[in-house]
Amino acid sequence: MRTVTLKFIKKTDVSFKQRAAILFSFIFTLTAFAQQSNREVLTLEKNWRFHKGDLSNGFSTTFNDSKWEKVTVPHDWAIKGPFDKNIDKQNIAIVQNGEDVATEKTGRTGALPYIGVGWYRNEFAVPNFNSDKKVLLLFEGAMSEPEVFINGKKVGSWNYGYSYFYFDVTPYILGTTKNKIAVKLTNRELSSRWYPGAGLYRNVRVIIKNNESIDQWGTFITTPTITTELAKVNIKTKVSGANLRLRTTIKDASGKTVAVDSTTAIYGNEFEQNIAVKNPNLWSPEKPYLYSSVAQLYAGSILKDEIVTKFGIRKIKYEANKGLSLNDSIIKFKGVCLHHDLGPIGTAVNKAALRRQLTILKDMGANAIRSSHNMPSLEQLELCDEMGFLFLAESFDEWAKPKVENGYHLYFETDAEKDIVNLVHATRNHPSIVMWSSGNEVPDQWGAEGAKRAKWLQDIFHREDPTRPVTVGMDQVKATIASGFGALLDIPGLNYRVNLYEEAFKAFPQGLILGSETASTVSSRGIYKFPVVEAKMKKYDDFQSSSYDLEACSWSNIPDEDFVLQDDKPWVIGEFVWTGFDYLGEPTPYDDNWPSRSSYFGINDLAGLPKDRFYLYRSRWNTKKETLHMLPHWNWEGREGEVTPVFVYTNYNSAELFVNGKSMGIQKKNNSSPTNRYRLMWMDVKYEPGIIKVVALDDNGKVVAEKETRTAGKPYKLIVEADRTKLDADGKDLSFVTVSVVDKNGIPCPTATNQLQFKIKGAGDFRAVSNGDATSLELFHLPTMKLFSGKLVVLVQSASEAGEIELMVSGKGLQTAKLKLITQNLKE
Ligand code: GAL
Repeated sequence: MRTVTLKFIKKTDVSFKQRAAILFSFIFTLTAFAQQSNREVLTLEKNWRFHKGDLSNGFSTTFNDSKWEKVTVPHDWAIKGPFDKNIDKQNIAIVQNGEDVATEKTGRTGALPYIGVGWYRNEFAVPNFNSDKKVLLLFEGAMSEPEVFINGKKVGSWNYGYSYFYFDVTPYILGTTKNKIAVKLTNRELSSRWYPGAGLYRNVRVIIKNNESIDQWGTFITTPTITTELAKVNIKTKVSGANLRLRTTIKDASGKTVAVDSTTAIYGNEFEQNIAVKNPNLWSPEKPYLYSSVAQLYAGSILKDEIVTKFGIRKIKYEANKGLSLNDSIIKFKGVCLHHDLGPIGTAVNKAALRRQLTILKDMGANAIRSSHNMPSLEQLELCDEMGFLFLAESFDEWAKPKVENGYHLYFETDAEKDIVNLVHATRNHPSIVMWSSGNEVPDQWGAEGAKRAKWLQDIFHREDPTRPVTVGMDQVKATIASGFGALLDIPGLNYRVNLYEEAFKAFPQGLILGSETASTVSSRGIYKFPVVEAKMKKYDDFQSSSYDLEACSWSNIPDEDFVLQDDKPWVIGEFVWTGFDYLGEPTPYDDNWPSRSSYFGINDLAGLPKDRFYLYRSRWNTKKETLHMLPHWNWEGREGEVTPVFVYTNYNSAELFVNGKSMGIQKKNNSSPTNRYRLMWMDVKYEPGIIKVVALDDNGKVVAEKETRTAGKPYKLIVEADRTKLDADGKDLSFVTVSVVDKNGIPCPTATNQLQFKIKGAGDFRAVSNGDATSLELFHLPTMKLFSGKLVVLVQSASEAGEIELMVSGKGLQTAKLKLITQNLKE
């Protein structure tokens, strides 16, 4: 007998199972499921066996996998490395980046071992299986080309690693206990422009329901009419079976019933209800109010199925010359693009890691996310609904024309429609999603064929969801003006090309422009280069980029240039900055410089630590809180007497700077240049060790706030600070502990690079560590790493039992730091 821990959710829609989940041990041979339940969802997390390498019989029921590695899903088989410059080495010219000569690109996909074939095996029970039951097997993403086998037989396959998909596996189920599942995944080289991860990196679920039941993703909730007094909630529900009745109960956020409707009127296989909700609470980023709809399907008096779907009541409108309005108020996207990797834990989806990202972005004042360039995780959408973020959900980075040799163009003709259908069906009830994107900088932007493809894809989105507009991130603006491509889109999205916004606005008929991708400024946290000048594709010997935030790519720009457009043009409906966080792969401008292996684009680094740029955005976007941030650090031994400019990012319009008590004068934001409009800059300051102090002034010249930075002495003592000290005892919750080092007087040491060690005792495990250095080849999963610019972040993972965790951080010659965390059974 083998004990398997499964997540078991009753009567709950897949999208919202986590909230209602009950974790318990399930023993296959017990009759624990004797009582009837109408829908069960098993999340297959534990006891997977994994093997890297191809096999001819990996699917066979008699195959002995006991020697395979035991893993938990979500799982990313490549994140443990090691980094290797030869993995997916791409000897190419990146045409999108304006290159015409091929060079050796070493870290483009992260230099982690994701290429090749991987097998996963597990087994699952189907309690009470009988001829009245239907069993679905759902994948929320599998990287990539998954081939799925049950009990030795091939059930089906999918190509795109980012898609959600499911199979009806009822005919393959052999009994109530040991049904064997095997999944083969294949990752080809030259198939990505960033680190895509590898394996079963999102959840795998078994859904057991009655034959008479609500179809998978069969619920579509819209709110076509909204007034202060009343919202009309339209619910379409696709079902299987005959002579059925649907009872829908709408509950408010506190769980109180606010409306009930019952119907037997079915059109084909679809019920349609219009339900009135009085005095509706509207959903918005500031007040993300969620209702839930409980759908109960009856045959006579027997309850056959029940699912809960969360939704929001909100109005979105895109109007020529006026822009985007949410609930009748104009709003602009203050957004960031995000790739799906979570830095040191790779692509294995983790809700705590996603929540931390969104918490950081919320503090920055961001209100929107673009899932570039593919389908977001369902967890990320749930969090955006709950925490209040607008969402631009994207589908593809390639259509029929290639960017990389083995990219999505291989499947475009056969798969694009079904991939979009699944994207829309699986996610359309999320109020956070306010726009779809069918593509990013697709080479099909040129010519008539591309325009036809754009129309075809947009029509599929419209057919599946008439309530949201569609965009494409366009970088070939002139070509899309010439071909009609840009004119036919619901919303023309411009990637960079700040100089073409006016022209595009005039040429396109829509009367508005979205900054679908902006900035691509590069910087390394805590690294400053001299002289301080604006530069494109600037490279340094240490393969870092300067944090004075003046360096961008040949096609891109510094943040201030976007701010000008956002502030001055009412028809610009917002921006999505490339990117909110650094990601694995694409180490531009060091694409051909080993060991660069992750990006420099992030507003936050790979560890999630804010770079200076975070405060530049915060000073503009977070209108509720004060921002007063000074750079650079003040530890410049050897630069005494040399010009060391000081920048201040603040919501205040002016400030005075002091170096060791001497005034360097007052600076005031002004319109003489984009940087002078958004930053306070003292360009002539000469370095002398000591204290720099900034004093912010209000418009009457009154002192309103001040901050100082001191020159630090030698590293002396380690400091630890957790983002959360209470963790859920679910075996996957994470605390992100920032480790820094201070001198004898408690002053942070901004250039420290000490090698540290981490030990964990008690009810948790060491999960990973990251210091945000894009050139580091230290492995994320080993409990030792160097500080980078005086900091790093340790990820501590909860165990499945409640208890206490102790983290100990030590380094040679440094005072050790200890931290206590608690794991307990938290009800989400
Ligand atoms: C864009 C592209 C992104 C990323 C970025 C880097 O052109 O859409 O995926 O490559 O450039 O600046």
